Order: sequence, then structure tokens, then C-alpha cells
Amino acid sequence: MKRKIIVGNWKMNPTTLEEASHIFKKVKNMAQKLNYTHVIICPPFPYISKFVSSKAKISVGIGAQDAFSEESGSFTGEVSPAMLRDLGVSHVIVGHSERRSAGESDEVVAKKVQSVLEAGIHPIVCVGEKERDSHGLYLDALKVQIKNSLAKVPKKLASQVIIAYEPVWAIDAKEPMEPSVIEEMTIFIRKVLADIFGQENALKTTVLYGGSINFRNAPDIITRGKVDGLLVGRESVNIPGFIELLKAVDVV
Ligand code: 13P
Repeated sequence: MKRKIIVGNWKMNPTTLEEASHIFKKVKNMAQKLNYTHVIICPPFPYISKFVSSKAKISVGIGAQDAFSEESGSFTGEVSPAMLRDLGVSHVIVGHSERRSAGESDEVVAKKVQSVLEAGIHPIVCVGEKERDSHGLYLDALKVQIKNSLAKVPKKLASQVIIAYEPVWAIDAKEPMEPSVIEEMTIFIRKVLADIFGQENALKTTVLYGGSINFRNAPDIITRGKVDGLLVGRESVNIPGFIELLKAVDVV
């Protein structure tokens, strides 16, 4: 059975360290029992140092939700990949649509991806169309977004990159994208990756789906959508739902 990657993007939740620790403990206990699933939790920055004990890292990887493109300097409010690596962070989400809609361009995303890789951390690069049109123009836009966002990635580092395909209209929605359409999109994304990295390297890039995942739809999306794993928002801070999701995904 293939090993799957489940990333929990907690976004700006929960509001207390006590609650965050409670959720994390439950996830860690469940993750220890999984055989075919690697769990990565991306909490808000203030909780990261509490979660990166060497023991926890055995079963749960810790990610950040963003990082700046420079290593250090006069950048008030920013956090660098080097600081995150020093704490033990293994993954960083870059270019989430909620940041892109606040003004983050493909060029900024590309610089962040580069500096995350230089720090020896896996970037989880979010891409996805805002809406769909009947002429397929969204495919061209998606291709440009992927190419621009990965513009500074050396071919030999393709295996370090994780792409999270998150159609913006399916985030925070009622339903995810249909699994058969996710499969089509996965094929399309792999073709774009082959253009960038070459066929062989492109096959080493992990591709996740994100957008309205819950414990009910997750197994079907993995098997029929043919993705390597999932980027989960709301359900990742809902303890019973996320525990069920991990159990269900581990056996597909
Ligand atoms: P939801 O799972 O809440 O739709 O969020 C998806 C997402 O944006 C994960 O990064």
C-alpha cells in the first residue's frame, strides 16, 4: 500500500494554547497507530515550538503556514525558513490562496519556495483556479501559476516539492471537487510538472488535493482522485472528524 500524506492546515485556529495542545495530543496518538499515512500538522506560529519535541516528530511532522523569502534582517513581523528549520519544522505551506488573495504574487511565492528549499524544508506550494469557465481558460491560468510559482526550483529538487492543488471555489465550501475531475486535474498538473522538471523528476513531486475534505469524502478522493494525499482545513481542527479521516485514509 502506498504511503499517503495528510497535511492539517489549522489556519488561524484555535485561539488558545491549551486547546491547540489538546488537539495535537489526540492527533499524535492516532498518528502513532497509522501504518501507511504520514501526518503533518501546520499550526499557527505561536504553537510551533510547543509541538516540535523530538518524540512528537516521530509520528507527526510539523509545518508552518508561511515563511518569508529572506534568511534574516530588517523585516518586521516576518519569520524566516532558517528560523523554522532551527525549531525542527519540516514543511512550509507557501502561496495559500488566502495569502494570494491578500496580495501575494506568483513572484513572491517563487522566492519563498526557493528560500524554503534552501533551508532544507519541503515547500507545500498551493495552486488552484479561482473559478472555472466553459472554454478551459482556467487551465492556462493554472499552468502559468504553477510555472511561475516553481520558477526558481532546480530540477534536481523536484522530489522535495509538494504541490497542493486547491481550487479556490472548493475551499471553505460545502462539497469538494468531484474525484473524477480531481483525477483529470492531477494528470494535467503532472504534465505541467513534466514540462518544468522533465518526465522523470516530475513523477517524484508529491501532489495533494485540498478543499472541503472531511472524513466521509477523504478515502474516495485519495483512491479515485489519484492524489498522493490531502491538505485539510476545517476538518483538521475537528478532533473526531480528523481522527476518523486518518483511520479511513490509512487503509485505502
Ligand atoms: P477547507 O478544508 O476548510 O475547505 O480548507 C482547505 C484549505 O484551504 C486547506 O489549506
